[in-house]
Amino acid sequence: MSMSSLAQEVAKRRTFAIISHPDAGKTTITEKVLLHGHLIQRAGTVKGRKSGQHAKSDWMEMEKERGISVTTSVMQFPYHDKLVNLLDTPGHEDFSEDTYRTLTAVDSCLMVIDAAKGVEERTIKLMEVTRLRDTPIITFMNKLDRDIRDPIELMDEVENVLKIRCAPITWPIGEGKNFKGVYNLMTDTVTLYETGKGAVIQDGKQIVGLDSPELDIAIGDYAVDLRDEIDLVRGASNEFNLAAFLSGELTPVYWGTALGNFGVDHMLDGLTAWAPSPQSRATEHRVVEPNESGFTGFVFKIQANMDPNHRDRVAFMRIVSGCYEKGMKLQHVRLGKEVRIADAVTFVAGDREQVDQAWAGDIIGLHNHGTIQIGDTFTTGEALKFTGIPNFAPELFRRIQLKDPLKIKQLQKGLMQLSEEGAVQVFRPLRNNDLIVGAVGILQFDVVVHRLRSEYKVEAIYEPVNVATARWIQARDNKVLEQFKQKAYDNLALDGAENLTYIAPTMVNLQLAQERHPDVAFLKTREN
Ligand code: G4P
Repeated sequence: MSMSSLAQEVAKRRTFAIISHPDAGKTTITEKVLLHGHLIQRAGTVKGRKSGQHAKSDWMEMEKERGISVTTSVMQFPYHDKLVNLLDTPGHEDFSEDTYRTLTAVDSCLMVIDAAKGVEERTIKLMEVTRLRDTPIITFMNKLDRDIRDPIELMDEVENVLKIRCAPITWPIGEGKNFKGVYNLMTDTVTLYETGKGAVIQDGKQIVGLDSPELDIAIGDYAVDLRDEIDLVRGASNEFNLAAFLSGELTPVYWGTALGNFGVDHMLDGLTAWAPSPQSRATEHRVVEPNESGFTGFVFKIQANMDPNHRDRVAFMRIVSGCYEKGMKLQHVRLGKEVRIADAVTFVAGDREQVDQAWAGDIIGLHNHGTIQIGDTFTTGEALKFTGIPNFAPELFRRIQLKDPLKIKQLQKGLMQLSEEGAVQVFRPLRNNDLIVGAVGILQFDVVVHRLRSEYKVEAIYEPVNVATARWIQARDNKVLEQFKQKAYDNLALDGAENLTYIAPTMVNLQLAQERHPDVAFLKTREN
């Protein structure tokens, strides 16, 4: 493969994820994006909640029951001359850890806001995460077919609460029952809204020119109001600026209704035009650029039993540089081992397909037989380690017990695999045979018991355990570490990857331990 074709492939890719508060419309907009990407022919096929079409595993049964999205998938589709990768993020706040890591694998984000509600709490948290890497943000104000809040007030709220400047690209005309369409400030074009066309791609009647008499005929008095309002908006808001967008300081704002499939294409036009192509990523030693010919990638997610027919685990890898070709040999850097990758998969609207080639910016799925962990780096030889893909110290703990004690092997195996995935964390105290499950969000506990039953055939129950928090332990000096191990033996445990962890019954206990052992690091996050 020549360098120029590599550069071309990289340049046409856009890899993004959607951030939003539950119920703002992420699932609906995902569906409409797939419609525009021609991955589905009619909207109404992706949302399994009602149709049941997506009941691919017991795991997803649970997702349906609870009405939340707990699986991450990757969807690739062409749009105009670009190739878009959309990474789905788990919707529930309990899975913030998974979501966090997914956001390390994208180059831009779409922020969906319910325009009747404005900036909500989960969006604030997710924006904090995108700030760590200054990820460019595109904004979609959703549900314009309902009565919404004042548009100017909504943009003010985004600016004040989320600390990002807003540049309206489109502007709404009316709202709720009287939603007429949007005016594009950059192209001076009105696109008219029609109800009842949410399931298909619409032609969208357009009128060029704010002063066009056609507009008065089409929307009557709304045209007069719109002219006044646009004057005001132009004076009071920011103009779009590409550099400010790329550095995460300014967001282009679109208005529409995901349900009515209106405005989603405008947003996609902006995303494909302005969002960055695959970006460089930092390693411990140097920064890797996407156009480097050597292949590099990192694993940001592991998921078990995605498809009951395959009964396996899949490691999701973001390609950072170069090109994957079927059958190529890669260095599994942490293990120092060469592996041949013959059967990587991609996920086109939920169905697995074999990939022959994939490029920087793409996500591929590797079959994992227990040797791949979150954060692992793969390369064509160079000993690199990508940084910034952390595990978080859990905040909730339970002792897990078997109903049938003979099944301890299956329980251990199940828990180890689930912890490898990052679905939950497992701690084994040094002083006894307890198995302690640690989670960041409470829902993870239910998920674990559910999956242990359906995938590993073990019935497990929880008991309270006297653990308030956990910290990973590191010390520069081996002697210091050994002394610490003796002194703190009763509070030490090994996590799923055999890392030494301090489990504290109270926060005060943790504080005292830290004061007593100043040479030991108590870490809240861990990178493999
Ligand atoms: P989420 O993934 O962000 O949680 O949101 P989701 O797309 O599931 O949307 C949440 C609810 O908001 C859904 O209604 C959905 O139909 C509705 N919705 C999404 N976009 C729009 C829009 O542009 N206008 C209006 N009016 N509603 C919108 P639901 O009744 O909770 O779910 P369902 O019964 O339709 O499945």
